[in-house]
Amino acid sequence: MLEDQRWQPVPGTIGAEIYPFFRKPDVTCSNAYVIRTSGDILIIDTGADAGQMDRLMLLIEEALRKAPRPVTLFITHCHIDHCYQAIRDRRFRSIPGFTVAAEEAGARVLESGDTIRTAAELMGWEIEPLPVNLPLLSARDCETLEVGGGITLRRQAIPLCSGDPLVVYHTPGHSPDSVCIRFGGLLFIGDLLFSTSPGVAGVAGWDQPALLASVGRIRWILAHEPVNLCCPGHGRCIPVQAMPALLDRLEAEAERLSGIGAFDRERLDDSLEHTADLLQEANRVFTVIAGRLDALAYRLEDLGEADEARRYLELLKSDRIDEFLEEFAQFADEFRTGKKIEVQLVLKAVQVIQRIESHFAGDRLNHIVDASLLRRTDRLLTDFMNTIMGYQDTVHLVATDLPSVLRDTVAGLSTLPFSDEAFIEAADDPATYRAELVVRLAYLPLFEGVALSLDTASPSLPPVLVDPERFSDEVVGVLGDLAAAGAVAIRLSLRQEGDAVGLLIQGSDVFSARRLRFYRRKFGLAGASLAISRDGTGLFLVLQAVNRMRQA
Ligand SMILES: [Fe+2]
Repeated sequence: MLEDQRWQPVPGTIGAEIYPFFRKPDVTCSNAYVIRTSGDILIIDTGADAGQMDRLMLLIEEALRKAPRPVTLFITHCHIDHCYQAIRDRRFRSIPGFTVAAEEAGARVLESGDTIRTAAELMGWEIEPLPVNLPLLSARDCETLEVGGGITLRRQAIPLCSGDPLVVYHTPGHSPDSVCIRFGGLLFIGDLLFSTSPGVAGVAGWDQPALLASVGRIRWILAHEPVNLCCPGHGRCIPVQAMPALLDRLEAEAERLSGIGAFDRERLDDSLEHTADLLQEANRVFTVIAGRLDALAYRLEDLGEADEARRYLELLKSDRIDEFLEEFAQFADEFRTGKKIEVQLVLKAVQVIQRIESHFAGDRLNHIVDASLLRRTDRLLTDFMNTIMGYQDTVHLVATDLPSVLRDTVAGLSTLPFSDEAFIEAADDPATYRAELVVRLAYLPLFEGVALSLDTASPSLPPVLVDPERFSDEVVGVLGDLAAAGAVAIRLSLRQEGDAVGLLIQGSDVFSARRLRFYRRKFGLAGASLAISRDGTGLFLVLQAVNRMRQA
């Protein structure tokens, strides 16, 4: 393994040494590597951090003072987190015999100062053109190998003054210009292993078939070339023995990503908006769930069921969701004060969501929290990931008789989830009795004292295109908000609106602009568009009638 920021020998070379700058994986700056041989100084990526660049320059200046040598910067791909300092810091350009080497397509991107392909636009950073004087892997300079499965691999050996072997391989997918660079037994693999990460998959130039083919190329390289250690663009080195499992996982994840959308400025803006809504909604939902568990434990304790009470309190403590949300809130504060950039905030949200998903004990709560709230909590997490990944095919709309869906929804809210008969029957069996008791104690009569009415209007409403379960769950969410805000009467009225069907929900006036935006997104995913009713007294949902679709 290689140690951070220390000179150490490069296996498979004649006395070459490497000085790595490892960083915790972060989109704003990559690792950098400095190599000194008897005849050359090589740099693999500079990263984007000015402090890292200063330390890197000191190493180069010191090496050049000892013996003047040509200095070559190899760029694993043109993403700005790998080469921003090469573009910004002009000290490089005054080194005599300094060469910048990049794959030929990447060279064009860098030389034109392309803000899209370098991802500079996503990061909100300004760049200028970077001259590349050694374009790599052009057809005349490289050999093309058959590596099996109909895949070819472009390989180019670069002669060094020291005579050490340096070979560049074309491994597109993460970006068209991604390369792997082998120096002795080290293989620099750039962002290959991050290609399927949310916020990375789908960036300009990302190509799923090319990525899958490159997984095959890397497998070939590892099997046929003398590699001991893989050096990634972010994070620590990986022993070659650990690579097959990582490549299997990368391949499986890449296979699943065929439907993703482009991760561009528009998606980033949408993701940022969703991130803000997600934080607020997650706080609401998990506060409600924690409140229910807490109240349940208190009542159980009161009834002498101390063990059962402890079980629920432990469930509450073990999920650690408070902790994750608090961490996210702190990160959001850092974003607001300019310490973090937009992409980082979105990726932090992804990390927090993934942690919540793996800790949230939804399946153990299904007799305590109503199913509709649990489904909404679940969707909170998956919908957010779908926004980031740009999945379009997640909405499943079916022709539905809306009056009957709403009748069931309203009836569900007015029906107790337990019965006296079941309770009496359970009296002989302690476990069943406790389960029945828990359901009773956990029940929150949210709509008690609220007059819920449903007016299905004319009997001849056409069927509408909707995801009925999603729609019903979101209606329950809206009704719950209205009830929690003190509405004593909530009225749902259906009516035909030209070629569409409208549902007006009137209760109290509780919706902030952000909450409306949140519901607009959620109802949108259920197939309904949301507006404020014309007279401002309620929410108005418009659903497309099936007849209109048929005629169109
Ligand atoms: Fe990258």
